[in-house]
Amino acid sequence: MNRSHLFPTLAVHAGETPCPATGALDTPIYQSTTFVSSSADEMAAVFGEQQPGYMYTRYGNPTIHALESKMAALEAGEAALATASGMAAISTAVLGYVKTGDHAVAARSLYGAAYDFFSRKLPRFGAQTSFVGATRIEDFERAVLPNTKLIYFETPSNPVLDIIDIERLAALARSRQLPLVVDNTFASPALQQPISLGVTVVVHSATKYLCGHGDAMGGIIVGPRDKIAELNREVVRDFGGVISPFNAWLILRGIHTLHLRMAAQCANAQQIAEFLSTHPKVERVNFPGLGSHPGHAIARKQMKAFGAMISFEVKGGLEAGKKVMDRVKIFSRAASLGDTRSLIVHPASTSHRAVPRQERLAAGVSDGLVRLSVGVEAAEDLTGDLEQALSF
Ligand SMILES: Cc1ncc(COP(=O)(O)O)c(C=O)c1O
Repeated sequence: MNRSHLFPTLAVHAGETPCPATGALDTPIYQSTTFVSSSADEMAAVFGEQQPGYMYTRYGNPTIHALESKMAALEAGEAALATASGMAAISTAVLGYVKTGDHAVAARSLYGAAYDFFSRKLPRFGAQTSFVGATRIEDFERAVLPNTKLIYFETPSNPVLDIIDIERLAALARSRQLPLVVDNTFASPALQQPISLGVTVVVHSATKYLCGHGDAMGGIIVGPRDKIAELNREVVRDFGGVISPFNAWLILRGIHTLHLRMAAQCANAQQIAEFLSTHPKVERVNFPGLGSHPGHAIARKQMKAFGAMISFEVKGGLEAGKKVMDRVKIFSRAASLGDTRSLIVHPASTSHRAVPRQERLAAGVSDGLVRLSVGVEAAEDLTGDLEQALSF
């Protein structure tokens, strides 16, 4: 598939070709752990990477490969690597750049488990991380040390929806010759293509918008061909975080409608954010599509739409936030995000539970913050649900 085609065409066609053996139009699920060789010499050549081919699914699989090719096209990257989960993608990418004695600079505003990986898991490997305020490029610059090997961030960030100017941060990383890694889960490539803006590597929890239906776990890393090959060889194969062919297939199928789901979800989210921002019981709304959001202008510049994640604080803090969560009828009280169903979650007690309270508050994740992942239901029904939930 020609990369010059527009996003919707690539979302449907890129990476997939009819099965040459049967003509099956949809990519088959190659539910096989191992692949046969015609001779001992061929087997050795495939294992030795002197000849292309499949040998063992932890090393590569045609269904997984279709997902990887599609994602490389959608993120405008050279190559991609699928992993068992978003956390496997994040840990693989980071371990591919950072080793004992090294240092990383990361935004403070991150998904809780990613923050935990940098703050508590990397030190086990003898590497340290400096966390910086998520929006000011000068803070990233000041934190760079002679042994820094990586800069890592999210935009929009989970769950406070901080926005970072990707082009400016990429210019800083380039000037210091540092790889820049972004978690693009909240935007998805339908809204934002960070590699085109100068980022080195994009990671995803494919469990979220890419899959879109809440039925498969997966992760994706997109970046330079050599680096992706190295991450596959040096990290995924040996640490073992490989995705199953069935989950790869579910995500592949989900991506066909990514742009359609995203358009509906973004429109719903805009309506809900505007509704919440004028509600007397709501203290504050984080949504980059609101003109009052500090990152609104940057989001407008680097995103095609403002996404479908919202967080907000109800007047009355934790107790009031819990009441809203207990009263909703259409939103599901469920972790995860990016599904067709609308979900509601309390980050301080779930996704950010592992982050120490002071660090969590410094990242803006207050005790009473409630996060919404807006789905594809009717916007009127969703605002109606929140209205009745806020009527206490
Ligand atoms: C922004 C972000 N990145 C990464 C992850 C981790 O993804 P997974 O649960 O697929 O490991 C999550 C999970 O919620 C997330 O919200």
